[in-house]
Amino acid sequence: MTQNPQLSDSGALRHLLTIEGLSAKLIHSILDTAESFVSVGEREVKKVPLLRGKSIFNLFFEPSTRTRTTFEIAAKRLSADVVNLNVSASSQSKGETLLDTVDNLSAMGADMFVVRHAQSGAAHFIARHVAPHIHVVNAGDGRHAHPTQGLLDMFTIRRYKQDFTRLKVAVVGDVLHSRVARSEIHALTTLGVPEVRVIAPRTLLPTGVEALGVQVYHDMPAGLKDVDVVMMLRLQNERMSGPFLPSAQEYFKYYGLTADKLQLAKPDAIVMHPGPMNRGVEIDSSVADGGQAVILPQVTFGIAVRMAVMSMLAGA
Ligand code: CP
Repeated sequence: MTQNPQLSDSGALRHLLTIEGLSAKLIHSILDTAESFVSVGEREVKKVPLLRGKSIFNLFFEPSTRTRTTFEIAAKRLSADVVNLNVSASSQSKGETLLDTVDNLSAMGADMFVVRHAQSGAAHFIARHVAPHIHVVNAGDGRHAHPTQGLLDMFTIRRYKQDFTRLKVAVVGDVLHSRVARSEIHALTTLGVPEVRVIAPRTLLPTGVEALGVQVYHDMPAGLKDVDVVMMLRLQNERMSGPFLPSAQEYFKYYGLTADKLQLAKPDAIVMHPGPMNRGVEIDSSVADGGQAVILPQVTFGIAVRMAVMSMLAGA
């Protein structure tokens, strides 16, 4: 038995549950594989037969625009059969348990589950339960992890900045409630980024965040100074159990990314955001729609990265 439940004894990817514990070599291999899939999206016929005959079930127990849709596009481009479970109209509403739902879908011939759930650990729970031939991809679990978002963010940074080992990267905003921030920080530190900064008010940082290998800034202008990459985060209001901030206006004043604040970063710095964005709360429209933003390319690259993950899991 290997230590990392998402890897097989030979070190191949069996499930993708978290970036934590993946080697730099494996992450680069996923990014390299994704690179080979970018051109598929540029062809007239956007399809390769790698997952023909495989059945992929999207189980999204939380809302999603980008992740669910790009997983579906990615699976279809790999020629898989895709089923999107309509959770609100499923028998979960009649009291069926998560594992009974998974067992029934497995009985229909599922080869892979792509799971988003509000509970941290939900994808691990399913991965421990399913038969050995079934693969599980975590599409975001609570505040724990969103590994394919972290990977597509690394793909985007590599595309624009090439060498991770020369970068200063700032992750700005609600780190406390953000699964994206955790996945990004694990990926950036594993890939050798020498300076990963987190910029946030004290109330939106987990205790002991420095142990993840980041430098903490509460002052946004100081934290943005000379960075190469600015990764903005949304305020995760749906995961806040009480008032963490005086107001959205106050938050924007101190932690919203404006054109003036962005000038403190390097002149060729890129601005990223996983979406959905809250304009005027964490980011000004002039920046979100400006020349340094790579927010929509992140979405496009997400298709190739998810194709890479699914094809590697299936051993294609
Ligand atoms: N980035 C992200 O997870 O977006 P969705 O919630 O729209 O999937």
